Amino acid sequence: MASLQEQIQQFEQEINSFVPANIAELEDYRIRFLGAKGIVKQLFGEMKSVPAEERKEAGQVLNGFKMLAESKYESFKSLQETTAAKGPAIDNTLPGTPMPIGTRHPLRVVENKIISIFERIGFSVATGPEIEDDWHNFTSLNMPEHHPARDMQDTFYVSSDPAWVLRTHTSSAQARILESQPLPIRVICPGRVYRNETISARAHCFFHQCEGLYVDKNVSFADLKQTLYYFVTEMFGEGTQVRFRPSYFPFTEPSAEMDISCTVCGGSGCNLCKHTGWVEILGCGMVHPNMLRNFGIDPEVYTGFAFGMGVERITQVKYQVNDLRLYSQNDVRFLRQFQSI
Ligand code: DAH
Repeated sequence: MASLQEQIQQFEQEINSFVPANIAELEDYRIRFLGAKGIVKQLFGEMKSVPAEERKEAGQVLNGFKMLAESKYESFKSLQETTAAKGPAIDNTLPGTPMPIGTRHPLRVVENKIISIFERIGFSVATGPEIEDDWHNFTSLNMPEHHPARDMQDTFYVSSDPAWVLRTHTSSAQARILESQPLPIRVICPGRVYRNETISARAHCFFHQCEGLYVDKNVSFADLKQTLYYFVTEMFGEGTQVRFRPSYFPFTEPSAEMDISCTVCGGSGCNLCKHTGWVEILGCGMVHPNMLRNFGIDPEVYTGFAFGMGVERITQVKYQVNDLRLYSQNDVRFLRQFQSI
């Protein structure tokens, strides 16, 4: 039979590693070590058989063991009592921590609105690649090689191959649609575009546009005007006025820019409209015959109109955002304002 010392050593190990998982395990421990028939009692009983000359020392060891067993019990017992006194760890009556709900980005809100307005009159949605080749971004759109819009200052060229650019406008999607879709075509193309601009309140190196293209037999400038008038009424509200100013774009002839009556001052003059009462919101025109020919479409049979608007511009006019940089700074104080829109 193991000596008293050996038994104590073994029990000490057991006690040292003991951690009760619950109150029942702690009670089992108490009964096993400290109970009326527990180990401590038993070991004291065995003292009788210890030779008299070793008894003093064995008594000290045994007393130390007893204190260890008791202090372990006491420490867990008091831990359990303080936890019980505090009540359950979770107070179910406390209000929950609110989870902030994300909001849509204002540009996405406006883009979605543009899409839904045009979808209602039969336009479908298409997208094109942001890295585009020279043909789709420039040449096919009747922009010959010397055209100033190709200038290095405006365009980001892919450095490994200057035949590729970051598209400078969503008009490149027009080219992709004309080459791939059967006529008639009635489509809008929202997306991101890039220009080599110094970032300021009024310019950015990337922004968003939405292109529109309608090609069919007998499409006239009157259709263009009516379609855009409908868009303006839906986007900015009944009573908003429009005006068309002659302009120039290589891919349309005739070309125009469209203004709407100022949404802030209603025409009396303010900072948004630079005291003119009008704000420009898009470029448009009748698809240039050269462009139709580039895609094998006979301009004597088919005609079309196209338009392109800046999503930032529409958002600025609609919600009076006066600094383009706000759109990409991710400042939640700005972004949160569009929560309920
Ligand atoms: N691509 C032009 C721009 O980026 C906008 C534009 C004007 C698009 C006239 C068109 C259009 O489709 O017909 O400024």
